[in-house]
Parts: sequence; C-alpha cells; structure tokens
Amino acid sequence: MPADPTLLKALGEALQKDPGSVPLRLHLATLLLDSGGESAALEHFVTVLGQEPANVDALRGAARAADMLGDSQRAQGYRQLLQALTHTAEQPKASEPPVSEQATSPQPEPSEGERVPAEPQSGDVTPWWEIEWPNLTLKDVGGMEQVKRRLNVAFLGPMRNPELRKAYGKSLRGGLLLYGPPGCGKTFLARATAGELGARFLGVGLSDVLDMWLGQSEKRLHEIFQHARRSAPCVLFFDELDAIGQKRVHLQHHGSMRNVVNQLLAEMSGVASDNEGVFLLGATNHPWDVDTALLRPGRFDRSAVVLPPDEPARVAILVHHLKGRPAEAVDVRLVASKTDGFSGADLAHLCETATENAMEDSAQTGTVRSISNGDFQEALRQVRPSTMSWFETARNFVLFANESGAYDDLLAYMKVKKLV
Ligand SMILES: Nc1ncnc2c1ncn2[C@@H]1O[C@H](COP(=O)(O)OP(=O)(O)OP(=O)(O)O)[C@@H](O)[C@H]1O
Ligand SMILES: [Mg+2]
Repeated sequence: MPADPTLLKALGEALQKDPGSVPLRLHLATLLLDSGGESAALEHFVTVLGQEPANVDALRGAARAADMLGDSQRAQGYRQLLQALTHTAEQPKASEPPVSEQATSPQPEPSEGERVPAEPQSGDVTPWWEIEWPNLTLKDVGGMEQVKRRLNVAFLGPMRNPELRKAYGKSLRGGLLLYGPPGCGKTFLARATAGELGARFLGVGLSDVLDMWLGQSEKRLHEIFQHARRSAPCVLFFDELDAIGQKRVHLQHHGSMRNVVNQLLAEMSGVASDNEGVFLLGATNHPWDVDTALLRPGRFDRSAVVLPPDEPARVAILVHHLKGRPAEAVDVRLVASKTDGFSGADLAHLCETATENAMEDSAQTGTVRSISNGDFQEALRQVRPSTMSWFETARNFVLFANESGAYDDLLAYMKVKKLV
C-alpha cells in the first residue's frame, strides 16, 4: 500500500535533521519502495550500506529496489552478499559451552552432525550437556598427518578392535590427551575421532562443571560418565582438563579438589561400572597444569600434540571458510603459504576480514566484487597469528620439564620452527 505523502515528507525532513539515523533511513526507504519511489529507495539503502556494509535489511531492500528498477544483475549482487553474510552467521562458534542433554533411548538414527535437543531428566532443572553424532571423520581434517597417525596408533586402532582390547585387559583403559595452542583443532579432532569410530560425542567443558557445581562436582562427574555409558559407543571428551589443576587454589578452600580428581580417576578406571564402549579424550592448552595424578598409567597416559595447521590443513580450513562466498578468484594455496603459524581460528578471522574488505567495496557500487587476493593481502596486514605467546610459555616446559619425554614431539616442531 502506498504511503501517505505527508508521512514521507515528514520522514524526509526528520532525516535531513538526523542524516546518520539508520533506522529512520531504512524506514523511509521501505515506505518509498511501496510508493513508487524505488529509485530514491535504492539510494537510501546504498547510503545505509555505506555506513553499515553488513546491514541485512539494507541489502534485502536494495535487492528488491534493484529488481523493481529492472537491474537484475545488481539485485543478484546484493543477494549474493546477503548469502555470504548469512553463511557467516551460521558458522559454529569454536568454544560454545555444552548446553543440552539428549535422551538416550531408543537409539536415534544417526543423522548428519545432528545435535538432538534436550529432554530434561526428571528432577534436573537445566539439562546442560550436549551429545551428538558427528558427521566428521578424519578425512575432513585437512593435513596434520602426524597427529592423525598418532591418533590411529594410540587410540583408534585399539579402540576399533574389542578383541584386542579384551586381550590386553585394563592396559588399554584410560585416555588420550590432546594438547597444543588454542584454536588449532583439538575439539575438531576429538569430534572427528568420534565420527571415525561411529560413536556419539559427549563434550564436557570441565571448568563449567567445576564452576557451576562447586561442591557437587563429583556427583556431576558420575552423572556424566553414566550418561556416556548409556550412550555407548561414545567418545567422552573432557575439554580444559587443566581446569582442575588451575583451580586448585580456588578449590582448596572448599576442600574438594582432591575429591574431584579421585572421582574422575574412579570413573575412568570403571571400578563401579563398566566403561566398555566409552572412549576418553581430553584436551588442554596447558598440559603442564594438568594434575599429574591424571597422567599416570591407565589414565590420560597417552598424549598427542595438536600443532598449528600445516599447509595442507590451512588449505582445507581456508576452503571451508570461503565456501558459499564469492571467492573463486582467491588463490587459496598462496594464502596458505603465507600463513605459517596461524591457528584455525586465526584463519577463520582472516577470511572474515578479507570478506569484509570486499563487501565494503561491493556495497558502495552495488555490484558484487568477488573476494580477491588483494583483499587477503590487506587482511594479512591486519590479522596476526595468535599462537606465538603459547610457544613462549611452552618453551620453558619443553626445555626444563621434559624428563619423561612427554613433550618430545613439541620440541621437535619448535626446533624446526626455530622457536627454541
Ligand atoms: N585440519 C583442519 N582441517 C579443517 N578445519 C580445521 C582443521 N584444524 C582446525 N580446523 C578448524 O579450526 C577451528 C578451530 O579448531 P578447534 O575449535 O577444534 O580448536 P581448539 O584447539 O579446540 O581450540 P581451543 O583451544 O580454543 O579450544 C575449527 O572451527 C575447525 O573447523
Ligand atoms: Mg576446543
């Protein structure tokens, strides 16, 4: 329905007084669209995009206006930008805390990467953990051959073979600890490992457990293990395994740190219950802070270092983050070759920055300019690798606390990279 001309006039005047007001301009532009003023509307939408290149309402409006003006190419351009933006918004966050629990029986069909919504347990106020069937396997993990080999030898091989597991009795109990700088794929690898085993994945952020249930942590740990046992085959993934060690001081006040460790050890050894089909993985950025009791034989007695992605891994990560964006012109291999030391998270950030550069240009002209190598060059000036400070800390431990050889792989890498 066409808008009242007096209203349009009043809005126009208000906007003259306050030209920076985005809501006002969007409102006027939308009314103009329905009142035969598509050309003026488009101008307003473009002005908004000048202020806020990622404004979804302005992009939608601009696409409609361009369509009405018969400029389908330009309309298509705005739609592509919209799509690129929506794609960005759908990227999973790297470190979302576990939030929900899924009912375990009857066995649901393993649908792809599905997270089944929570069904609260009776008496439980908030279901808070999350279980899923990952659709990832190690094939989806680009590069990183060394850690994949380590996972195969130290974890997947024995776990895949129940006979072998039985033959060796308890010696194959315990878990594998993934450690390394932040954002380099520990969680990703843990989920891929579950996918590889055809197992479910139950991820637990330990610092959440400790914070939320100070004093009740043992009970919660037991519940978590019970839940994993009911869901077997299941990879039970403890993220931030160092949280127990780190919070030692904090927890000592409550006298429960020892109890938490003991409870974890009891659950791991399956004294009271059978852990058949429960595969334990841990992750930490600070292996040196993990309580040593947890690292003894039969516990988290194997480890694998997850280093910054190598070149093939970087190619895979870049391709993943550019999917669905107009980035055909980007020489992904070239970018990969220039991003040694970047974490997966850094690379995601780099792609965002390059996309924003291209988008800013495109919004001004209304024609989609694909993301280019130039955008990445520009982005590389803004985004720096974040892993250096981690290696600075690691250096001391690698040099002065490596009697057991636990950090040998890390040491070898740091030598090659001239970080020690
Ligand atoms: N080899 C790889 N192939 C494809 N994608 C990868 C690879 N390594 C990491 N990624 C991507 O990098 C991102 C960061 O990885 P992830 O969250 O698993 O890191 P993390 O080591 O668990 O980090 P944090 O220490 O912050 O918990 C993920 O979104 C993942 O998609
Ligand atoms: Mg993680």
